Order: sequence, then structure tokens, then C-alpha cells
Amino acid sequence: MKLTGTRRLRTDRLVLRRLTLDDAQQMYDNWASDPVVTQFLSWPAHSSVDVSRTILASWVDSYDDPGTFNWGIELIADGTLIGQTSVGEKDLRTGLVNVGYAIGRRWWGKGYGTEVLVALMDYLFDVVEVNKVEASHDPANVASGRVMEKAGMVTEGLRRACYLSGSTIRDQLYHGMLRSEWEGRQC
Ligand SMILES: CC(C)(COP(=O)(O)OP(=O)(O)OC[C@H]1O[C@@H](n2cnc3c(N)ncnc32)[C@H](O)[C@@H]1OP(=O)(O)O)[C@@H](O)C(=O)NCCC(=O)NCCS
Repeated sequence: MKLTGTRRLRTDRLVLRRLTLDDAQQMYDNWASDPVVTQFLSWPAHSSVDVSRTILASWVDSYDDPGTFNWGIELIADGTLIGQTSVGEKDLRTGLVNVGYAIGRRWWGKGYGTEVLVALMDYLFDVVEVNKVEASHDPANVASGRVMEKAGMVTEGLRRACYLSGSTIRDQLYHGMLRSEWEGRQC
């Protein structure tokens, strides 16, 4: 795996770019303050823009590390920041990375989630040279599972009682794409 860091990526409708402190208000307004967005995430909705700013500050610092892969999702059409996507866990020995994403509710159902995941996998396989991209979702989070399916991932199985949603311990359904499967799609 090559630790190439958070490079600017472009799709038909989106730019994936590094986040800055100036993004705090949009992060808060557009997705991070919404409890519906965070319903199936391991972090609670932000209670103020200061929370968003503090998290952004730690993310901005982390860009010095080439092992950081963490993008803001921006609409090319009008420059609005609509969400965030990142690599969470990574295993350098097996070349496995786990990815996650969140998009503001106003922009759901327009294909942006799938566009992000496909772009992320293309970068991770092509440039970072990972062996496998994995993602997981709460089984009740049907939209997220659909994004993984539409992006071409294979459903692998249910990991029981492995994450906290608020104070409830819940399952995660795992999906993944192997390098060989991604290469097969390029032909
Ligand atoms: C998951 C998320 C990124 C999806 O983003 P999106 O831009 O709406 O995704 P897409 O438009 O590419 O695809 C969503 C798909 O889910 C489907 N869908 C949405 N809600 C659904 C539901 N309740 N039942 C069945 N299908 C549903 C949509 O119809 C669409 O599928 P289609 O294209 O076949 O019609 C977005 O909902 C989100 O950010 N949620 C909150 C954060 C989150 O849960 N992140 C993932 C953690 S694992």
C-alpha cells in the first residue's frame, strides 16, 4: 500500500478535497448537526459549530500524515460542501482499508453517495494500490447498503454486536471489493 494521502479527486458532479477550518459552518449546517444523518453513525450530531470546528482542526493537522485519507465532498455546480468521506481502519500488511461516508439529507437519493464510493475505490486501488476496500453499515441503514451494492461491492456477512449507536449495541453488515474484482470491472 502506498500512503499517498488525501489528493484532490474529481467525478462528473463532485470534487473530493481536503477540508479546512473555513468549512466549519457548512459542515455543521449541511450534515453534522442532523441527528437523522448520524442515526447509524458512531458519533453524535454536533451540538454547535464549535464542535465541528474542533473536529476540523484535528483533521487539518492530520493531513501532514500521508496515511490520512479524508475528503470533503463538494458539488461542482455551486461549490456547496455536502458531506465527508474517509478511510477509517487500514491494515498495511494485507492492504485492506475500510471506508465510510456521510452526506447531508438535502442531497440524498441523487446518486452522490454511489459516485463518491466509486471514486474512492478507483483512487484506492489505482493510486494507493490497496488489495481490498471494505465498508459496513447498520442493517437498518438500507440506503448505505444500497450504495455499496450499486458501487459493485460483494456482501460478505454480518458482524454482530460490534458498534454503539447512541447507547445501543448494534450489528454491522460488511461488504467489500477485492483488487481482482476491481480490475475485472476496468475491462
Ligand atoms: C448512505 C448515504 C451516503 C447515501 O447517499 P445517497 O447520495 O442518497 O446515495 P445514492 O443516491 O447513491 O443511493 C441511495 C440508494 O438507496 C436507496 N434508498 C434510500 N433509502 C432507502 C430505503 N429506506 N429503502 C430502500 N432503498 C433506499 C435509494 O433509492 C438509492 O438506490 P437507487 O439508486 O437504486 O434508487 C446517505 O444516506 C447518508 O449520508 N446517510 C447518513 C450517513 C450514513 O448513514 N453513512 C453511512 C454509514 S455506513
